[in-house]
Amino acid sequence: MKEDLKIYYYGSPILREKLSELEELPEDFDQLVDDMFELMSHEEGIGLSANQVGKDLRFFVADFSLYKDDGIKRVFINPEILESEGETKDEEGCLSLPDITVNVKRSDKIKVRFRDRNFEEHVEEYSGYLSRVIQHETDHLNGTFMTDRISPLKRKLLDNKLKSIAKMAKQELKQS
Ligand code: NI
Repeated sequence: MKEDLKIYYYGSPILREKLSELEELPEDFDQLVDDMFELMSHEEGIGLSANQVGKDLRFFVADFSLYKDDGIKRVFINPEILESEGETKDEEGCLSLPDITVNVKRSDKIKVRFRDRNFEEHVEEYSGYLSRVIQHETDHLNGTFMTDRISPLKRKLLDNKLKSIAKMAKQELKQS
């Protein structure tokens, strides 16, 4: 890795920000994307948004190799969910929320417009777990966590865990 990327945890201010749209590819974008894929696979994640590594850039990376044979590693720049249909509930985790899993209601099928790592525009349809990953990561780009999408009662049960993660985030930010 060229840059020493690290995961930003729940409690880091940038994870509550709505990230700025990319009008063009930033300098060293390819390197950043490669580094994010490397970090993500090391941490055993399937999706990672730019603010999860402290960058105010509206994109995320996703590794669909567990679920799809083609187009394994994807970059979604300025993703926009154009249509959604149906509803499913399934378990989710998040690299910014270590040791927490929650059941989250999401749309089943989505149509998403985005730009790829060459800044070419696509409109694609996804369903099942891939659709869920895209929705989870798009949420991150808007400052939303999976834990914002569960009932207040269930969130209350996670209160202590969330507080201790936020405390850890604060300490890490101080060090950097
Ligand atoms: Ni996440």
